[in-house]
Amino acid sequence: MSSPLAAVAQAMVAPGKGILAADESTGTANKRFAPLNIPQTEEMRGRYRELLFTAPRFGEFVSGVILYDETIRQTGPSGKSLEAVIAASGAFPGIKLDTGTHPLALGGPDEKITEGLDGLAKRVDEYVKLGAKFAKWRAVIAIDNGIPTQRAIVANAHALARYAAICQAGGLVPIVEPEVLIDGEHSKHSLERSFEVHERVLSTVFEELAEAGVKFEEMILKPSMVAPGQQSAKASVHEVAEATVTVLLRWVPAAVPGIAFLSGGQGDEEATEHLNEINLIGRKKHAPWALTFSYGRALQHGALTTWLGSEANVAAAQAILTHRLHMNSLASLGRYSSDSEKERELVGAPG
Ligand code: 13P
Repeated sequence: MSSPLAAVAQAMVAPGKGILAADESTGTANKRFAPLNIPQTEEMRGRYRELLFTAPRFGEFVSGVILYDETIRQTGPSGKSLEAVIAASGAFPGIKLDTGTHPLALGGPDEKITEGLDGLAKRVDEYVKLGAKFAKWRAVIAIDNGIPTQRAIVANAHALARYAAICQAGGLVPIVEPEVLIDGEHSKHSLERSFEVHERVLSTVFEELAEAGVKFEEMILKPSMVAPGQQSAKASVHEVAEATVTVLLRWVPAAVPGIAFLSGGQGDEEATEHLNEINLIGRKKHAPWALTFSYGRALQHGALTTWLGSEANVAAAQAILTHRLHMNSLASLGRYSSDSEKERELVGAPG
């Protein structure tokens, strides 16, 4: 009795597969290119994205790729549309639908609301015609003295729910992404404080989703992991995984097919270790959903800093991406260990 959207959502979290977040806005992509002296042009962004999507074994590990508006309309250096390149790998093209964050009126200091609801149904129609099968909307919640306010949590949860309902009505699987930040200015909080905020955020998000009539079978949750802020003392991999699984079991309905985490500024291997431990604990506690990755930085970092904008580095950069995808695929099955990192030679990476 699976609906077409539920079937897409299931396929997005099929065993051993995860999502590549490559939906950096033009401004963010340029910010990543600039310190590496990569020219900040549409052409170079297209070259970089095609490099990623044509990496060896890409479709074996990636079920979906989140794109920005420029990329879903773009033609890569091979002359094919990037959307078609992704579809040819077997992965679904997806689209970032929010239009970014802005100060929340009457919110706490530095609190943000995500915008993009105006005219959204029409934009969904257009992206469906461009080949998108799913979408993403990111809400950000910062932790500090006096924040988050309940007002910021409710406003962001409401926008996520409105977005998700519009997606499902228009034929896209919504990725619902409430991110509790661990990096940046507001990152001095403890793991316990992160746990408490995740409880408030996830309980409110699912209340709003239910109120909006969103079908849980036809969505993917993209949460942050429960971790201390980066300016606070580190927690162990086990502590992060245990807290993350505990809060998800409390607040995420079993009907949701999968949970695909963001990396949020974690190190590449750190994000993989956390995902692996989350799967081991999830299995022990009979977690009902698939637990996988939807990383941006923790998947792309090595590839981008190896490519550096040079044609001569394309194969090496691709090998690094394939390796990271492979490691996270193993972690999504609870089969990763630090020894797995040595398997890099198997995918032909130099050095
Ligand atoms: P990071 O994994 O770099 O946090 O990015 C994931 C994402 O899609 C943020 O919206």
